[in-house]
Amino acid sequence: MRWTILAALFLFVSAAHSQVIQEQNNPKRWTITTSHSQQIIAVASDGIPVPIYYGPIGEPPPYASELKVNPKVGSEVREVPFRGGFDHQVPAIEVVYADGTRDCNLIYDSAQIADIDGQPGLQIHLKDSEYGLEVTANYRVFPDQDITERWLTITNHGNAAITLENAQSASVELPSGEYDLTQLAGEWAHEFTPFTSRITPGVKTIQVRDFQGLNNPPWVAIRPAGERNQNSGNVYFAALHYSGNWRLDVAKTFPGDRNRFAGAGDVQIVGGINFWDTALALKPGETFTTPKMTVGFATDSMDGAANRLQQYTRKYVLPAHFRDALRPVIYNSWYATVFNVNEAQQLALAKVAKQIGVELFVMDDGWFKGRTTDHAGLGDWTPDPQKFPHGLQPLIKQINDLGMDYGLWVEPEMVNPDSDLYRAHPDWVFYYPKRERHEQRNQLMLNMAREDVYQYTLGWMSKLLSENNIRFIKWDHNRALSEPGWPDAPPDQQRAVRILYMQNLYRLIDTLRAKFPDVLFEDCASGGARADLGMLERTDQVWASDNTNPDDRLFIQWGYLSMLPANTMVSWVTDEDWHRGPLSMNYRFAVSMQGVLGVGGNITKWPAEDLKTAARMISLYKEIRPIIQHGSVYRLISPFDSNRVALEYVAQDGSQAVLFCYTLEDDMAGSRQSERVHRTVYLRGLDPNAQYTLSGQPHQTLTGQSLMNVGIPWPIFGDYNSRIIRLTKVDK
Ligand code: DGJ
Repeated sequence: MRWTILAALFLFVSAAHSQVIQEQNNPKRWTITTSHSQQIIAVASDGIPVPIYYGPIGEPPPYASELKVNPKVGSEVREVPFRGGFDHQVPAIEVVYADGTRDCNLIYDSAQIADIDGQPGLQIHLKDSEYGLEVTANYRVFPDQDITERWLTITNHGNAAITLENAQSASVELPSGEYDLTQLAGEWAHEFTPFTSRITPGVKTIQVRDFQGLNNPPWVAIRPAGERNQNSGNVYFAALHYSGNWRLDVAKTFPGDRNRFAGAGDVQIVGGINFWDTALALKPGETFTTPKMTVGFATDSMDGAANRLQQYTRKYVLPAHFRDALRPVIYNSWYATVFNVNEAQQLALAKVAKQIGVELFVMDDGWFKGRTTDHAGLGDWTPDPQKFPHGLQPLIKQINDLGMDYGLWVEPEMVNPDSDLYRAHPDWVFYYPKRERHEQRNQLMLNMAREDVYQYTLGWMSKLLSENNIRFIKWDHNRALSEPGWPDAPPDQQRAVRILYMQNLYRLIDTLRAKFPDVLFEDCASGGARADLGMLERTDQVWASDNTNPDDRLFIQWGYLSMLPANTMVSWVTDEDWHRGPLSMNYRFAVSMQGVLGVGGNITKWPAEDLKTAARMISLYKEIRPIIQHGSVYRLISPFDSNRVALEYVAQDGSQAVLFCYTLEDDMAGSRQSERVHRTVYLRGLDPNAQYTLSGQPHQTLTGQSLMNVGIPWPIFGDYNSRIIRLTKVDK
């Protein structure tokens, strides 16, 4: 009986999946259909798979190169672009064979439609038979989110080594046309700033070359030129699952005559590992798998794209153990105590934290041997005997007794030259023998590609986590890479060091998570410098920026939410004030409540009134937390456009929503354009036919249709003011 049910289920799932990916044998052709998109790939007459169409569902326009190949030239626009023949695209594969041939020829070999990890999947196998190179293009489809994960698997079936000089994750061809590119860029304390520019003929490369994504998280969104509508409009987007050196190229060919030149005016997105100063030797029998690139398409604006990527990240990317769990309210000691930590002072902070409703108490930097400033200690991961003479256990126990979980900061990939570890193993860092070892924040980077460094790190982390009841790790990374030398490695591995480093870093976190499944992990790199889907496959949340000024955070968080979900965006209320004098407690909390709420000020010094506000806001946050952390976010009014900011979160089941409104510096009435246009807030994502009650509003009940089409009057005035309005659907 049970087998019958299982068999029926299997047939049902296979049937559903075969609707997503359909195959035609003559000519060989595949169509991937999601809720709102269609992608067609076919094998051209010269045997090369070519991209036929990717975009909204419908009859695709005729494509010049489709199956009619100029025999003298061959397919120039390829699904897996390789260096070889006439290659007009940005290549995804560049190899050198043992005989010195640098020209590759990847011809269709076979294909299969089969589940990949529970999702509909397509694999197209290509071969360069002369040399035994096999490349598989993988597609794992998420029809509801209009997303496909793409990556390449590259195997050497020959009998000589092949040098991989480039292996990108995927190439995507958009229908020819004029487009705008939106990317995120920034620097320390100013992360996630969106920039939009026209895509003109040529190649725009967004990249990281020193392991710090500070300037560019690996994400792009592409819309038809000039499209600014917040409710509708097509958007293509791509994001990489990689935290080392990565690259995203957006290329456009001259919009010439399609009959003369295949692919004229096309836009190509290519992304993956940045092979700058990198090469990988693929020995006979070896396989290299690229990281994934997630590619998606939305018909309903940038927020439509953001919500798809966020929903997919929440449902399929984040580590399974805590995937559905609500993130706790954190206290973090960094801004209150910096390196100067001790048991009594941490406990004093913890007692107040408990009173205001904190659930997880985290001690940041400063706890380990010799760590009095950032000049010493990294590498020696035992509790400092002066600060914690009896270890961490007494502090952890008292915090647990208060009813809170305990968490700790670590920076496992780094070492200070002033440490026992470095004195014992000066060869464990990246270095070139005759070059200076440049320090940043007085630290060097351990070469995690080395097995001894990996084992050492796994050893001390495992000891720390098994000897102490630690339920949270904040994993920091505070410098960029320089002098990436590894003199002890065999010559053919030396330029692969950055890739091997990342493989071991991922292996390390994966191993720790498997050994300690109940520990929540936070990703940090001097703030949000390593926020990507690669880290989010193995960490649960991100410290988005060291800038905790609420007015700056409105900008930073706006950018963050165009890519990553709110349940990963940690935001603390602190005493920091980098601009203009402290803003109200209400305002500070209202800003931090957009993501995973935390507190990071010296709360032992906060006046009673502030603690009361903190307790009230934390309690409100706990009520609306499921809507914020698991709902859809609509960014209604942008701080980049005006001095008013509005964001709306709608619960997964649509029964509730929360509207956050903020002012920045208020302008004189009627003065600036933005002040004139944003006197109304138009909500989004509601049920037009339902009635909603609005908390604290004079007109208590309005239909979704009114709220979205007529809007509500802008509710607040004055500098740096905020209002949180809860909307509840009225049961019929
Ligand atoms: C950088 C992080 O972004 C901060 O939050 C803090 O953890 C410091 N490092 C500690 O050194």
